[in-house]
Amino acid sequence: MMLRRALVVVAACALLPAVAFAEKNPAIGYRHALMDLVYSNFGPITAMVKGEIPWDDARMAGYGKDLKAVVSLNAMRGWPAGSEGGHSKDEIWTKLDDFQKKMEAFQSEASKLGDLAVAGDREAIKTQFSATGKTCKSCHDAFKEKDEQ
Ligand code: HEC
Repeated sequence: MMLRRALVVVAACALLPAVAFAEKNPAIGYRHALMDLVYSNFGPITAMVKGEIPWDDARMAGYGKDLKAVVSLNAMRGWPAGSEGGHSKDEIWTKLDDFQKKMEAFQSEASKLGDLAVAGDREAIKTQFSATGKTCKSCHDAFKEKDEQ
């Protein structure tokens, strides 16, 4: 019984640093949530385009619609001054114009991909998928730290 209570306290304390960190840097939570939502839609689109899962026009249209909605959000809210950290390189804040241009290029290509995914022309979707993927890579290469794991 005592041991069990002690374990619960230890488990609760283990969560504390993460909570405090998120409160200190709400922007980091915002950008992770944003990128995760991008990936949650772009990921299955990728899998369908590459033939890793069966192509389903209705699901493609749904992911496209949601991707377009996600890239209409104010992405720069995730990288305000003074929010260095996470996997974001410090260069973002010294080259903010460049970062913002890359973000806008991505939002524009992903928004077109969203429309095409809803329209359903598979060849057009594949072409626009590549164009969009290049804008992710271009920004990650310049501004995102590599994942260590
Ligand atoms: C304009 C720059 C930019 C573009 C465009 C961009 N990303 Fe990112 N992305 C980043 C940065 C910077 C990070 C690191 C965020 C951090 O940890 O501080 C990141 C992180 C991520 C993560 C990890 C999120 C997490 O929870 O740690 C995923 C997944 C991701 N991006 C996917 C994508 C995909 C997929 C695309 C394109 C469809 C894309 N990104 C386009 C800059 C960008």
